[in-house]
Amino acid sequence: MNLPKSVTICEVGPRDGLQNEKKILSVEEKIELIDKISEAGYRVIEVGSFVSPKAVPQMATTDEVFKRITKRENIEYRALVANLKGVERAIECGCKKVKLNVSASREHNLRNLNMTPEESVGKFKECVALAKANGIEVSGSISMPFGSPWDYKIPKDDVKKIVEAYLNVGIVEISLSDAAGMAVPSQVYEMCSEFKKTFPEVKWILHFHNTRGAGLANVFAGMLAGVTWFDASFGGLGGCPFVPGAEGNIASEDVIHMLHEMNIDTGVDLDKAIEIAKSARDMVGHDLPSCILKAGKNSDLLKRWLS
Ligand code: COA
Ligand code: ZN
Repeated sequence: MNLPKSVTICEVGPRDGLQNEKKILSVEEKIELIDKISEAGYRVIEVGSFVSPKAVPQMATTDEVFKRITKRENIEYRALVANLKGVERAIECGCKKVKLNVSASREHNLRNLNMTPEESVGKFKECVALAKANGIEVSGSISMPFGSPWDYKIPKDDVKKIVEAYLNVGIVEISLSDAAGMAVPSQVYEMCSEFKKTFPEVKWILHFHNTRGAGLANVFAGMLAGVTWFDASFGGLGGCPFVPGAEGNIASEDVIHMLHEMNIDTGVDLDKAIEIAKSARDMVGHDLPSCILKAGKNSDLLKRWLS
């Protein structure tokens, strides 16, 4: 089987994981989680988003959080932005990587960003110009490329047009974000294989929600197609507040556990990742969907039988 030797897990819990939670964590709690994530060996951390606090109140404190976390060398601390104001806030905080977003579903884009996908794409240029002028790298994400609750199937050509729009403004790192958890492995394999051939300059990141239980199978399908970057969230928390019935991202510790059992390196200390999920569970005050939190690691089983 043609699988990668190593994979990068981008921990999106501080943003995607917390943005849909009823309880808004304090700045101190967020900093504690992010500092633990830095210590666990993750190379990419999505710290939060610089979006309207009216739209997503949970992310209103991203500026202060960003400034106060302990930044380590060789870790990319990125944030989601939706407009020029978001880039301005990133500059002010010293954030060096921002991620733009647009949805391939018109209805989702209207609900999430209060504009049409064309209007969102039209804003890329000014955001990239301001970011680049301030030494900030920009990546792009495309929501709902594998399907959406409003459209069911999304035409592949609609997704390709957005990829081209990102390329037109010089963005070559693109995340395919299955925010509604509708992707299935065969589709992931086919789309990623095709896109990798059509757009060889792009570094692809896959972002799966486990809404219908296909999350880890989709990671496997992505790896078979040659993708080696995946977003995941501690404990399996997460969801877009503007997607009805949104469920959490694939749990970081579940993905890391599966990959390590397959001898695929992630650079992350699994025990530390599990501790982070437990801390997040205590902070949000409810059970999390993570399988590893419930079942433990494969390697724990013998110890359990013996005790
Ligand atoms: N940071 C802080 N405040 C912002 C902001 C930003 N990046 N962008 C807009 N605002 C403020 C404006 O100043 C304005 O405030 P006011 O009412 O006090 O004057 C208010 O938000 C509305 O601004 P406007 O430009 O009219 O935006 P809008 O209401 O059309 O909303 C977005 C558009 C994009 C700002 C909003 O939909 C948004 O932030 N969406 C993000 C959604 C998200 O993060 N979803 C989860 C990730 S998938
Ligand atoms: Zn998401």
